[in-house]
Amino acid sequence: MKVLLVSAEVTPFAKVGGLADVAGSLPKALHDLGVDIRVLMPKYRSVVNVAGSDLHRAVEGCAVQMPGFLSGCALDESRLPGSDVPIYFVEHNDYFWRDAVYGPPGGAYPDNLERLSFLCRAAVALFAPLGWQPDVVHLNDWHTSLIAVLAKEGSLPFGTVFTGHNLGGAYQGVFPPEQTWISGIDETKPWVPSFLDDNGLNLARAGLACADMITTVSPTYAKELRDPKTGAGVSDLIRERGKDVQGVLNGIDYGYWNPETDPYLSDEDGYATFSLDHLSGKAACKAALQKEMGLPIQPDVPLLSIVTRLDDQKGLDLLSEILPGLRGMQLVVLGTGAKNYEDFFAKQAAMRPEIVAALKFDEKLAHRIYAGSDIFLMPSRFEPCGLGQMISLRYGTVPVARKTGGLNDTVFETGKSANGFIFEPYTAEDFKSALDRALAAYQDKAAWAALMARAMKSDNSWTASATRFVGIYEEALAHAVPSRAKKPAAPKKPAAAKPSAAKKPAAAKKPALKKKPPIQ
Ligand code: GLC
Repeated sequence: MKVLLVSAEVTPFAKVGGLADVAGSLPKALHDLGVDIRVLMPKYRSVVNVAGSDLHRAVEGCAVQMPGFLSGCALDESRLPGSDVPIYFVEHNDYFWRDAVYGPPGGAYPDNLERLSFLCRAAVALFAPLGWQPDVVHLNDWHTSLIAVLAKEGSLPFGTVFTGHNLGGAYQGVFPPEQTWISGIDETKPWVPSFLDDNGLNLARAGLACADMITTVSPTYAKELRDPKTGAGVSDLIRERGKDVQGVLNGIDYGYWNPETDPYLSDEDGYATFSLDHLSGKAACKAALQKEMGLPIQPDVPLLSIVTRLDDQKGLDLLSEILPGLRGMQLVVLGTGAKNYEDFFAKQAAMRPEIVAALKFDEKLAHRIYAGSDIFLMPSRFEPCGLGQMISLRYGTVPVARKTGGLNDTVFETGKSANGFIFEPYTAEDFKSALDRALAAYQDKAAWAALMARAMKSDNSWTASATRFVGIYEEALAHAVPSRAKKPAAPKKPAAAKPSAAKKPAAAKKPALKKKPPIQ
Protein backbone atom coordinates (compact mmCIF):
# COMPACT_ATOMS: atom_id res chain seq x y z
CA MET A 1 0.00 0.00 0.00
CA LYS A 2 1.42 3.38 -1.06
CA VAL A 3 0.18 6.35 0.92
CA LEU A 4 0.99 10.06 0.69
CA LEU A 5 0.16 12.04 3.82
CA VAL A 6 -0.24 15.75 3.10
CA SER A 7 -0.17 18.34 5.87
CA ALA A 8 0.44 22.09 6.09
CA GLU A 9 2.58 21.48 9.20
CA VAL A 10 4.82 18.59 10.22
CA THR A 11 6.97 18.33 13.36
CA PRO A 12 9.88 19.19 13.52
CA PHE A 13 9.92 21.17 10.26
CA ALA A 14 7.05 23.55 11.04
CA LYS A 15 4.61 23.41 13.92
CA VAL A 16 1.63 25.46 14.97
CA GLY A 17 -0.33 22.84 16.91
CA GLY A 18 -1.00 19.16 17.50
CA LEU A 19 -1.64 18.56 13.80
CA ALA A 20 2.11 18.84 13.19
CA ASP A 21 2.89 16.25 15.87
CA VAL A 22 0.46 13.78 14.36
CA ALA A 23 1.77 14.35 10.83
CA GLY A 24 5.32 13.81 12.11
CA SER A 25 4.64 10.63 14.10
CA LEU A 26 1.80 8.58 12.57
CA PRO A 27 3.84 7.98 9.37
CA LYS A 28 6.62 6.34 11.39
CA ALA A 29 4.15 3.90 12.91
CA LEU A 30 2.67 3.16 9.46
CA HIS A 31 6.14 2.62 8.06
CA ASP A 32 6.78 0.05 10.80
CA LEU A 33 3.66 -1.77 9.62
CA GLY A 34 5.11 -2.05 6.12
CA VAL A 35 3.14 0.77 4.47
CA ASP A 36 5.07 2.73 1.81
CA ILE A 37 4.16 6.01 3.47
CA ARG A 38 5.57 9.36 2.40
CA VAL A 39 4.80 12.86 3.63
CA LEU A 40 4.37 16.11 1.72
CA MET A 41 4.32 19.69 3.03
CA PRO A 42 5.28 23.19 1.83
CA LYS A 43 8.90 24.30 1.94
CA TYR A 44 8.74 27.13 4.48
CA ARG A 45 11.78 29.06 5.61
CA SER A 46 11.90 26.95 8.80
CA VAL A 47 12.25 23.72 6.79
CA VAL A 48 15.73 24.65 5.63
CA ASN A 49 16.85 25.46 9.18
CA VAL A 50 15.69 22.07 10.43
CA ALA A 51 16.59 19.81 7.50
CA GLY A 52 19.88 21.54 6.65
CA SER A 53 22.13 19.51 4.42
CA ASP A 54 19.78 16.51 4.45
CA LEU A 55 17.67 18.31 1.89
CA HIS A 56 18.06 17.31 -1.74
CA ARG A 57 16.17 17.91 -4.98
CA ALA A 58 13.66 15.24 -5.96
CA VAL A 59 11.96 17.07 -8.85
CA GLU A 60 13.58 19.99 -10.63
CA GLY A 61 10.47 21.49 -12.15
CA CYS A 62 6.79 20.64 -12.34
CA ALA A 63 4.03 22.62 -14.02
CA VAL A 64 1.00 23.30 -11.83
CA GLN A 65 -2.18 24.45 -13.52
CA MET A 66 -4.03 27.00 -11.44
CA PRO A 67 -7.43 28.33 -12.55
CA GLY A 68 -6.65 30.60 -15.47
CA PHE A 69 -2.87 30.67 -15.10
CA LEU A 70 0.01 28.30 -15.15
CA SER A 71 2.40 28.08 -12.25
CA GLY A 72 5.07 25.62 -11.19
CA CYS A 73 7.11 24.22 -8.35
CA ALA A 74 10.16 22.18 -7.49
CA LEU A 75 10.32 19.40 -4.91
CA ASP A 76 12.91 18.75 -2.23
CA GLU A 77 13.23 15.57 -0.22
CA SER A 78 14.47 14.54 3.21
CA ARG A 79 13.50 11.97 5.89
CA LEU A 80 11.39 12.29 8.99
CA PRO A 81 14.02 12.44 11.74
CA GLY A 82 14.78 9.09 13.31
CA SER A 83 13.15 7.13 10.48
CA ASP A 84 13.31 6.11 6.84
CA VAL A 85 10.05 7.88 5.99
CA PRO A 86 10.58 10.19 2.98
CA ILE A 87 9.25 13.70 3.34
CA TYR A 88 8.79 16.01 0.36
CA PHE A 89 8.79 19.79 0.46
CA VAL A 90 6.96 21.74 -2.25
CA GLU A 91 9.03 24.74 -3.24
CA HIS A 92 7.22 27.86 -4.40
CA ASN A 93 8.91 30.80 -2.78
CA ASP A 94 6.18 33.39 -3.33
CA TYR A 95 3.70 31.21 -1.49
CA PHE A 96 5.79 29.45 1.13
CA TRP A 97 9.09 31.19 1.79
CA ARG A 98 7.63 32.98 4.77
CA ASP A 99 8.18 33.02 8.53
CA ALA A 100 4.77 31.69 9.54
CA VAL A 101 2.65 28.77 8.38
CA TYR A 102 -0.76 30.45 8.20
CA GLY A 103 0.02 34.06 9.05
CA PRO A 104 1.25 36.37 11.78
CA PRO A 105 0.13 35.52 15.35
CA GLY A 106 -3.63 35.77 15.60
CA GLY A 107 -3.96 36.52 11.87
CA ALA A 108 -4.05 34.83 8.48
CA TYR A 109 -2.22 35.62 5.24
CA PRO A 110 -4.70 37.19 2.80
CA ASP A 111 -3.70 34.72 0.07
CA ASN A 112 -4.14 31.54 2.13
CA LEU A 113 -6.77 30.11 -0.22
CA GLU A 114 -4.46 30.62 -3.18
CA ARG A 115 -1.33 29.19 -1.51
CA LEU A 116 -3.12 26.13 -0.11
CA SER A 117 -4.96 25.51 -3.38
CA PHE A 118 -1.58 25.58 -4.99
CA LEU A 119 -0.23 23.04 -2.50
CA CYS A 120 -3.11 20.68 -3.33
CA ARG A 121 -2.77 21.04 -7.10
CA ALA A 122 1.01 20.66 -6.89
CA ALA A 123 0.68 17.47 -4.81
CA VAL A 124 -1.41 15.83 -7.51
CA ALA A 125 0.72 17.14 -10.38
CA LEU A 126 3.91 15.80 -8.80
CA PHE A 127 3.09 12.07 -8.91
CA ALA A 128 4.12 11.78 -12.57
CA PRO A 129 7.50 13.56 -12.43
CA LEU A 130 8.21 11.79 -9.15
CA GLY A 131 7.42 8.42 -10.70
CA TRP A 132 5.46 7.41 -7.66
CA GLN A 133 1.69 7.05 -7.67
CA PRO A 134 0.05 6.66 -4.25
CA ASP A 135 -2.91 4.33 -3.74
CA VAL A 136 -4.27 6.69 -1.10
CA VAL A 137 -3.71 10.34 -0.22
CA HIS A 138 -4.25 11.10 3.45
CA LEU A 139 -5.47 14.69 3.95
CA ASN A 140 -5.31 16.65 7.17
CA ASP A 141 -7.70 19.50 7.96
CA TRP A 142 -9.12 22.03 5.52
CA HIS A 143 -5.72 23.04 4.14
CA THR A 144 -5.61 19.86 2.07
CA SER A 145 -9.33 19.32 1.31
CA LEU A 146 -9.05 20.47 -2.28
CA ILE A 147 -7.19 17.24 -3.11
CA ALA A 148 -10.36 15.28 -2.30
CA VAL A 149 -12.40 17.62 -4.50
CA LEU A 150 -9.94 17.27 -7.40
CA ALA A 151 -9.87 13.48 -7.02
CA LYS A 152 -13.65 13.25 -7.10
CA GLU A 153 -14.02 15.72 -9.97
CA GLY A 154 -11.47 13.94 -12.13
CA SER A 155 -12.05 10.34 -10.94
CA LEU A 156 -8.33 10.27 -10.20
CA PRO A 157 -6.84 6.84 -9.54
CA PHE A 158 -6.28 7.07 -5.80
CA GLY A 159 -8.44 6.98 -2.69
CA THR A 160 -8.62 9.87 -0.24
CA VAL A 161 -8.88 9.88 3.55
CA PHE A 162 -9.69 13.18 5.24
CA THR A 163 -8.77 13.55 8.91
CA GLY A 164 -10.46 16.36 10.82
CA HIS A 165 -8.09 17.39 13.61
CA ASN A 166 -10.14 20.37 14.61
CA LEU A 167 -13.43 21.15 12.92
CA GLY A 168 -14.34 24.00 15.28
CA GLY A 169 -15.80 27.07 13.57
CA ALA A 170 -12.50 28.94 13.53
CA TYR A 171 -10.74 26.03 11.81
CA GLN A 172 -13.00 25.30 8.86
CA GLY A 173 -11.23 27.26 6.13
CA VAL A 174 -14.07 29.58 5.19
CA PHE A 175 -13.56 32.02 2.30
CA PRO A 176 -15.89 34.73 0.94
CA PRO A 177 -17.67 34.34 -2.43
CA GLU A 178 -15.38 36.77 -4.22
CA GLN A 179 -12.37 34.55 -3.48
CA THR A 180 -13.76 31.12 -4.27
CA TRP A 181 -12.79 31.14 -7.95
CA ILE A 182 -9.13 30.78 -6.98
CA SER A 183 -9.80 27.23 -5.75
CA GLY A 184 -10.77 26.32 -9.31
CA ILE A 185 -13.50 23.97 -8.11
CA ASP A 186 -15.86 22.82 -10.88
CA GLU A 187 -19.05 24.34 -9.56
CA THR A 188 -21.30 22.31 -11.87
CA LYS A 189 -20.72 19.09 -9.96
CA PRO A 190 -23.69 17.85 -7.91
CA TRP A 191 -21.74 17.55 -4.62
CA VAL A 192 -20.52 21.15 -4.64
CA PRO A 193 -23.53 22.84 -2.97
CA SER A 194 -22.76 21.12 0.33
CA PHE A 195 -19.62 23.23 0.71
CA LEU A 196 -19.87 26.16 -1.68
CA ASP A 197 -22.81 28.54 -1.96
CA ASP A 198 -23.62 32.23 -1.96
CA ASN A 199 -21.95 32.55 1.43
CA GLY A 200 -18.66 31.33 0.05
CA LEU A 201 -16.48 28.27 0.36
CA ASN A 202 -16.08 26.03 3.41
CA LEU A 203 -13.10 23.76 2.88
CA ALA A 204 -13.62 21.57 5.95
CA ARG A 205 -17.03 20.70 4.54
CA ALA A 206 -15.42 20.06 1.15
CA GLY A 207 -13.14 17.45 2.72
CA LEU A 208 -16.05 15.86 4.55
CA ALA A 209 -18.18 15.79 1.40
CA CYS A 210 -15.59 14.54 -1.09
CA ALA A 211 -13.08 12.26 0.66
CA ASP A 212 -13.62 8.52 0.27
CA MET A 213 -13.16 7.99 4.01
CA ILE A 214 -13.19 10.38 6.96
CA THR A 215 -11.58 10.12 10.34
CA THR A 216 -11.64 12.35 13.38
CA VAL A 217 -8.97 12.24 16.03
CA SER A 218 -10.94 10.48 18.78
CA PRO A 219 -14.11 8.37 19.03
CA THR A 220 -15.79 10.85 21.39
CA TYR A 221 -15.09 13.76 19.02
CA ALA A 222 -16.69 11.77 16.20
CA LYS A 223 -19.77 11.33 18.40
CA GLU A 224 -19.82 15.02 19.35
CA LEU A 225 -19.67 16.02 15.69
CA ARG A 226 -22.72 13.89 14.91
CA ASP A 227 -24.77 15.92 17.40
CA PRO A 228 -26.06 19.24 15.98
CA LYS A 229 -25.53 20.85 19.42
CA THR A 230 -21.81 20.09 19.46
CA GLY A 231 -21.25 19.49 15.75
CA ALA A 232 -19.76 22.88 14.85
CA GLY A 233 -22.09 23.19 11.86
CA VAL A 234 -20.89 19.99 10.17
CA SER A 235 -23.17 17.43 11.87
CA ASP A 236 -25.37 17.15 8.74
CA LEU A 237 -22.44 15.96 6.63
CA ILE A 238 -21.04 13.72 9.36
CA ARG A 239 -24.42 11.99 9.63
CA GLU A 240 -24.82 11.74 5.89
CA ARG A 241 -21.46 10.02 5.53
CA GLY A 242 -22.51 7.40 8.11
CA LYS A 243 -19.98 4.59 8.45
CA ASP A 244 -17.45 6.39 6.28
CA VAL A 245 -16.69 8.49 9.38
CA GLN A 246 -14.53 6.84 12.01
CA GLY A 247 -13.07 8.11 15.27
CA VAL A 248 -9.46 6.95 15.47
CA LEU A 249 -7.62 8.04 18.57
CA ASN A 250 -4.33 9.83 17.97
CA GLY A 251 -1.20 8.45 19.52
CA ILE A 252 2.03 10.13 20.52
CA ASP A 253 5.54 9.29 19.39
CA TYR A 254 6.69 6.90 22.13
CA GLY A 255 10.29 7.17 20.95
CA TYR A 256 10.34 10.94 21.27
CA TRP A 257 8.22 11.23 24.42
CA ASN A 258 10.04 8.75 26.61
CA PRO A 259 11.02 9.61 30.20
CA GLU A 260 13.60 6.82 30.14
CA THR A 261 15.64 8.29 27.29
CA ASP A 262 14.52 11.93 27.01
CA PRO A 263 17.66 13.93 26.12
CA TYR A 264 16.16 17.11 27.59
CA LEU A 265 16.25 15.55 31.07
CA SER A 266 19.98 16.15 31.29
CA ASP A 267 21.77 15.67 34.56
CA GLU A 268 23.87 18.84 34.20
CA ASP A 269 20.75 20.82 35.00
CA GLY A 270 19.71 18.45 37.79
CA TYR A 271 17.14 16.57 35.73
CA ALA A 272 17.18 12.79 35.42
CA THR A 273 15.54 10.18 33.25
CA PHE A 274 13.13 7.81 34.94
CA SER A 275 10.78 4.88 34.46
CA LEU A 276 8.10 3.07 36.37
CA ASP A 277 10.73 0.94 38.11
CA HIS A 278 13.09 3.81 38.80
CA LEU A 279 10.93 6.69 39.88
CA SER A 280 13.62 8.57 41.80
CA GLY A 281 14.42 10.47 38.61
CA LYS A 282 10.94 11.98 38.68
CA ALA A 283 11.62 13.58 42.08
CA ALA A 284 14.91 14.92 40.73
CA CYS A 285 13.03 16.43 37.79
CA LYS A 286 10.61 18.15 40.13
CA ALA A 287 13.40 19.74 42.15
CA ALA A 288 15.27 20.73 38.97
CA LEU A 289 12.16 22.28 37.47
CA GLN A 290 11.43 24.23 40.65
CA LYS A 291 15.03 25.48 40.58
CA GLU A 292 14.98 26.37 36.87
CA MET A 293 11.69 28.23 37.25
CA GLY A 294 12.78 30.08 40.38
CA LEU A 295 10.16 28.39 42.54
CA PRO A 296 10.81 27.40 46.16
CA ILE A 297 12.25 23.84 46.15
CA GLN A 298 9.54 22.01 48.09
CA PRO A 299 9.20 18.30 47.34
CA ASP A 300 5.87 17.95 49.15
CA VAL A 301 4.03 20.87 47.61
CA PRO A 302 2.04 19.70 44.56
CA LEU A 303 3.43 21.21 41.36
CA LEU A 304 0.70 21.91 38.80
CA SER A 305 1.37 22.68 35.16
CA ILE A 306 -0.32 23.66 31.94
CA VAL A 307 1.36 23.57 28.53
CA THR A 308 -0.89 24.96 25.85
CA ARG A 309 -1.75 27.48 23.20
CA LEU A 310 -3.36 30.28 25.22
CA ASP A 311 -6.65 30.00 23.39
CA ASP A 312 -10.30 30.12 24.48
CA GLN A 313 -10.69 26.47 23.42
CA LYS A 314 -8.34 25.42 26.22
CA GLY A 315 -10.55 26.36 29.19
CA LEU A 316 -8.31 29.16 30.40
CA ASP A 317 -11.29 31.23 31.50
CA LEU A 318 -12.05 28.51 34.06
CA LEU A 319 -8.45 28.50 35.27
CA SER A 320 -8.47 32.31 35.49
CA GLU A 321 -11.54 32.11 37.69
CA ILE A 322 -10.17 29.64 40.21
CA LEU A 323 -6.48 30.56 40.26
CA PRO A 324 -6.72 33.62 42.53
CA GLY A 325 -8.27 31.41 45.25
CA LEU A 326 -5.88 28.43 44.89
CA ARG A 327 -3.40 27.91 47.71
CA GLY A 328 -1.04 25.13 48.82
CA MET A 329 0.34 24.44 45.34
CA GLN A 330 2.76 25.72 42.74
CA LEU A 331 1.90 26.37 39.10
CA VAL A 332 3.98 26.57 35.92
CA VAL A 333 2.32 27.91 32.77
CA LEU A 334 4.00 27.45 29.37
CA GLY A 335 2.53 28.84 26.18
CA THR A 336 1.77 31.83 24.02
CA GLY A 337 -1.43 33.13 22.54
CA ALA A 338 -4.27 35.49 23.35
CA LYS A 339 -3.10 38.70 24.98
CA ASN A 340 -5.75 38.68 27.71
CA TYR A 341 -4.46 35.33 28.99
CA GLU A 342 -0.82 36.29 28.65
CA ASP A 343 -1.53 39.42 30.71
CA PHE A 344 -3.49 37.49 33.31
CA PHE A 345 -0.81 34.87 33.91
CA ALA A 346 2.00 37.44 33.87
CA LYS A 347 0.17 39.41 36.55
CA GLN A 348 -0.50 36.36 38.72
CA ALA A 349 3.15 35.36 38.44
CA ALA A 350 4.30 38.85 39.41
CA MET A 351 2.11 38.81 42.52
CA ARG A 352 2.67 35.25 43.72
CA PRO A 353 6.04 33.51 44.15
CA GLU A 354 4.44 30.08 43.69
CA ILE A 355 3.29 30.86 40.13
CA VAL A 356 5.55 31.11 37.07
CA ALA A 357 4.43 32.06 33.57
CA ALA A 358 6.77 31.22 30.67
CA LEU A 359 4.94 32.98 27.85
CA LYS A 360 6.79 31.42 24.97
CA PHE A 361 7.14 28.31 22.85
CA ASP A 362 9.96 26.19 24.25
CA GLU A 363 10.17 22.50 23.36
CA LYS A 364 12.91 21.68 25.88
CA LEU A 365 11.08 23.35 28.74
CA ALA A 366 7.88 21.55 27.72
CA HIS A 367 9.62 18.18 28.21
CA ARG A 368 10.94 19.30 31.57
CA ILE A 369 7.53 20.49 32.71
CA TYR A 370 5.85 17.22 31.70
CA ALA A 371 8.56 15.35 33.61
CA GLY A 372 8.86 17.56 36.68
CA SER A 373 5.29 18.39 37.62
CA ASP A 374 2.76 16.34 39.57
CA ILE A 375 -0.56 17.41 38.09
CA PHE A 376 -1.32 18.50 34.52
CA LEU A 377 -4.31 20.77 33.82
CA MET A 378 -6.43 20.38 30.71
CA PRO A 379 -9.85 21.98 31.33
CA SER A 380 -10.60 22.34 27.59
CA ARG A 381 -13.95 23.67 26.42
CA PHE A 382 -13.63 21.24 23.52
CA GLU A 383 -10.71 19.02 22.58
CA PRO A 384 -10.82 16.90 19.43
CA CYS A 385 -8.07 14.69 20.82
CA GLY A 386 -5.49 16.50 22.90
CA LEU A 387 -1.89 15.36 23.08
CA GLY A 388 -0.83 17.08 26.33
CA GLN A 389 -2.74 14.63 28.52
CA MET A 390 -1.16 11.66 26.72
CA ILE A 391 2.34 13.06 27.19
CA SER A 392 1.72 13.90 30.84
CA LEU A 393 0.41 10.38 31.48
CA ARG A 394 3.57 8.91 29.97
CA TYR A 395 5.67 11.06 32.32
CA GLY A 396 3.62 10.11 35.39
CA THR A 397 2.04 13.55 35.68
CA VAL A 398 -1.59 13.04 36.59
CA PRO A 399 -4.08 14.94 34.40
CA VAL A 400 -7.11 16.90 35.60
CA ALA A 401 -9.20 17.16 32.46
CA ARG A 402 -12.64 18.00 31.18
CA LYS A 403 -14.77 15.17 29.86
CA THR A 404 -14.80 16.15 26.19
CA GLY A 405 -13.42 14.75 22.91
CA GLY A 406 -10.22 12.77 23.21
CA LEU A 407 -9.86 13.66 26.89
CA ASN A 408 -12.89 11.47 27.51
CA ASP A 409 -11.16 8.60 25.69
CA THR A 410 -7.85 8.82 27.54
CA VAL A 411 -8.40 10.14 31.08
CA PHE A 412 -10.41 8.05 33.55
CA GLU A 413 -11.21 8.80 37.16
CA THR A 414 -12.83 5.48 38.06
CA GLY A 415 -12.32 1.82 37.28
CA LYS A 416 -9.26 -0.36 36.85
CA SER A 417 -7.53 2.05 34.52
CA ALA A 418 -8.17 5.18 36.62
CA ASN A 419 -5.32 7.52 35.72
CA GLY A 420 -6.54 11.06 36.45
CA PHE A 421 -9.41 13.34 37.41
CA ILE A 422 -12.24 14.42 35.19
CA PHE A 423 -15.16 16.87 35.28
CA GLU A 424 -17.97 17.42 32.86
CA PRO A 425 -20.04 20.62 33.13
CA TYR A 426 -17.98 23.51 31.86
CA THR A 427 -17.95 25.54 35.07
CA ALA A 428 -15.25 26.87 37.38
CA GLU A 429 -16.88 25.01 40.32
CA ASP A 430 -16.68 21.64 38.59
CA PHE A 431 -13.10 22.24 37.55
CA LYS A 432 -12.23 23.35 41.09
CA SER A 433 -13.79 20.29 42.67
CA ALA A 434 -11.92 17.92 40.31
CA LEU A 435 -8.70 19.74 41.15
CA ASP A 436 -9.53 19.51 44.87
CA ARG A 437 -9.96 15.75 44.49
CA ALA A 438 -6.55 15.57 42.86
CA LEU A 439 -4.92 17.70 45.57
CA ALA A 440 -6.51 15.54 48.29
CA ALA A 441 -5.32 12.34 46.59
CA TYR A 442 -1.82 13.79 46.37
CA GLN A 443 -1.64 13.81 50.19
CA ASP A 444 -1.88 10.00 50.31
CA LYS A 445 1.59 8.98 49.13
CA ALA A 446 0.87 5.29 48.50
CA ALA A 447 -2.38 5.93 46.64
CA TRP A 448 -0.70 8.65 44.58
CA ALA A 449 2.16 6.32 43.63
CA ALA A 450 -0.38 3.74 42.45
CA LEU A 451 -2.19 6.40 40.43
CA MET A 452 1.07 7.54 38.83
CA ALA A 453 1.89 3.95 37.94
CA ARG A 454 -1.48 3.51 36.21
CA ALA A 455 -0.94 6.80 34.39
CA MET A 456 2.45 5.64 33.12
CA LYS A 457 0.99 2.31 32.02
CA SER A 458 -1.78 3.92 29.91
CA ASP A 459 -1.05 2.98 26.31
CA ASN A 460 -1.29 5.96 23.98
CA SER A 461 1.27 4.76 21.46
CA TRP A 462 0.36 4.74 17.76
CA THR A 463 0.40 0.95 17.48
CA ALA A 464 -3.34 0.22 17.59
CA SER A 465 -4.45 3.33 15.69
CA ALA A 466 -1.89 2.91 12.89
CA THR A 467 -3.27 -0.59 12.27
CA ARG A 468 -6.75 0.88 12.01
CA PHE A 469 -5.52 3.40 9.46
CA VAL A 470 -4.26 0.59 7.23
CA GLY A 471 -7.81 -0.80 7.13
CA ILE A 472 -9.25 2.65 6.44
CA TYR A 473 -6.78 3.19 3.58
CA GLU A 474 -7.91 -0.12 2.07
CA GLU A 475 -11.53 0.97 2.29
CA ALA A 476 -10.74 4.32 0.70
CA LEU A 477 -8.93 2.66 -2.19
CA ALA A 478 -11.74 0.14 -2.68
CA HIS A 479 -14.18 3.04 -2.80
CA ALA A 480 -12.23 5.11 -5.30
CA VAL A 481 -10.68 2.44 -7.49
CA PRO A 482 -12.58 -0.84 -6.96
CA SER A 483 -10.36 -2.72 -9.41
CA ARG A 484 -7.31 -2.04 -7.25
CA ALA A 485 -9.02 -2.85 -3.97
CA LYS A 486 -7.29 -6.11 -3.11
CA LYS A 487 -3.85 -5.86 -4.57
CA PRO A 488 -2.47 -2.39 -5.14
CA ALA A 489 -0.89 -2.90 -8.57
CA ALA A 490 1.00 -0.42 -10.71
CA PRO A 491 -1.21 2.47 -11.82
CA LYS A 492 -2.55 2.37 -15.36
CA LYS A 493 -2.22 6.06 -16.06
CA PRO A 494 -0.60 9.02 -14.37
CA ALA A 495 -2.81 10.91 -11.99
CA ALA A 496 -2.26 14.40 -13.08
CA ALA A 497 -1.22 16.89 -15.67
CA LYS A 498 2.28 16.19 -16.94
CA PRO A 499 4.66 19.10 -17.24
CA SER A 500 4.09 18.87 -21.00
CA ALA A 501 0.47 19.82 -20.41
CA ALA A 502 1.80 23.23 -19.56
CA LYS A 503 0.37 25.01 -22.57
CA LYS A 504 -3.19 23.91 -22.21
CA PRO A 505 -5.32 24.19 -19.09
CA ALA A 506 -5.13 20.91 -17.19
CA ALA A 507 -8.69 20.88 -15.93
CA ALA A 508 -11.08 19.15 -18.28
CA LYS A 509 -13.85 21.52 -17.33
CA LYS A 510 -12.74 25.05 -16.88
CA PRO A 511 -14.19 26.73 -13.81
CA ALA A 512 -16.02 29.95 -14.44
CA LEU A 513 -13.67 32.76 -13.56
CA LYS A 514 -15.41 35.43 -11.57
CA LYS A 515 -12.44 37.68 -11.41
CA LYS A 516 -9.25 38.39 -13.23
CA PRO A 517 -6.49 36.05 -12.20
CA PRO A 518 -3.68 37.64 -10.22
CA ILE A 519 -0.29 38.22 -11.75
CA GLN A 520 2.04 35.38 -10.76
C1 GLC B 1 -5.84 19.88 17.00
C2 GLC B 1 -6.84 19.61 18.12
C3 GLC B 1 -6.26 18.69 19.18
C4 GLC B 1 -5.65 17.46 18.51
C5 GLC B 1 -4.64 17.87 17.45
C6 GLC B 1 -4.01 16.70 16.73
O1 GLC B 1 -4.81 20.70 17.46
O2 GLC B 1 -7.28 20.82 18.72
O3 GLC B 1 -7.25 18.29 20.10
O4 GLC B 1 -5.00 16.68 19.50
O5 GLC B 1 -5.27 18.68 16.48
O6 GLC B 1 -4.95 15.88 16.08
